[in-house]
Amino acid sequence: MSAIEAQDLTRVFHVGDEEVRALDGLTVSLERGRLAAVIGPSGSGKSTLMALLGGLDTPSSGSISVYDQELNGMTPPDLAAYRRSTVGFVFQDFFLLSHLTAIENVEVPLKLAQVSRTERRERANELIELVGLGHRGDHRPQQLSGGERQRVAIARALANRPKLLLADEPTGNLDEKTGAAVTEILLNLNKDQDITVVLVTHNPELANQTEVQFRLGGGKLQQKTVASEELIVPPVIEPEIDMAQDQELVEITQSTSVKVVILETGFCQAKAIDIIHEVRPDLGLFDISVILNDLPFIVLDEVEREKAEELKNRFEDAGCVVELVNTSELK
Ligand SMILES: Nc1ncnc2c1ncn2[C@@H]1O[C@H](COP(=O)(O)OP(=O)(O)OP(=O)(O)O)[C@@H](O)[C@H]1O
Ligand SMILES: [Mg+2]
Repeated sequence: MSAIEAQDLTRVFHVGDEEVRALDGLTVSLERGRLAAVIGPSGSGKSTLMALLGGLDTPSSGSISVYDQELNGMTPPDLAAYRRSTVGFVFQDFFLLSHLTAIENVEVPLKLAQVSRTERRERANELIELVGLGHRGDHRPQQLSGGERQRVAIARALANRPKLLLADEPTGNLDEKTGAAVTEILLNLNKDQDITVVLVTHNPELANQTEVQFRLGGGKLQQKTVASEELIVPPVIEPEIDMAQDQELVEITQSTSVKVVILETGFCQAKAIDIIHEVRPDLGLFDISVILNDLPFIVLDEVEREKAEELKNRFEDAGCVVELVNTSELK
């Protein structure tokens, strides 16, 4: 059973008069439950491929199917739903919310999925244990080391039991020792959690420990290497998470404590960048576009309720899908 089937993918960017073929007829497939590394020189199209697999971008031509879902032709809200139901993302930067503890950060996606308070606390605790941070659950990101932050980000990515975990250079910002601890977690993940993991890495040690390696070059697949079959663990079907309908959790209450705006920005990037830049002039335009590219949702901290609602309307006018979440309820 395949997790990923991508056929003849091209992604062409136009920069001025220049045409950049980030992917140029790439075909890849991967079975469910496997752990794969994407390797290749800088500019070979690794991040572009991850964005397409994650439904953060669409190909110029070619087709992608992930767990039997055809991404071609999906509307931005369909892609947003696909990301939430199927994909977990881990990036080089951790994008944790600074005013929330490790446990609370892991709870954010659960809250968006309307999981009840008791259940999400239980799941977050379980995940924090899984990444070996049971003793650090109450710490805020600034009280954690780089490796510990990345482990919280991994726990957050797993919260809604994604079928596919995409990690783009997850150890890129970590020193060798902390990188090794994060690596070990990622390597064990698809055994313990029965998910398909695809990770981009420049670290040959990490790549050599994976079952499948895709080497890209010039936007094409140069080589696929599969390790010995004994290593491959067949996937086990996970029970569906019980999404208790706790509607009041996501509604905006009349309190003034709404400070988080969560966005599915879909394909309204340019307009979204302008609006975000107004609220967060401290972030450079580059930072914002990186955040928009890398996260399936954007969190704007410290926005009062009235302002948050105004922003929501503006983002929606620009074609984004936006949700407001009451921060105090995450506690
Ligand atoms: N938004 C964009 N606009 C224009 N060109 C782009 C864009 N995104 C990527 N590219 C170009 O596409 C090519 C592939 O980029 P990509 O980010 O996928 O490479 P990569 O393999 O992830 O590299 P690295 O190892 O440096 O992260 C590069 O030449 C890059 O400059
Ligand atoms: Mg990259």
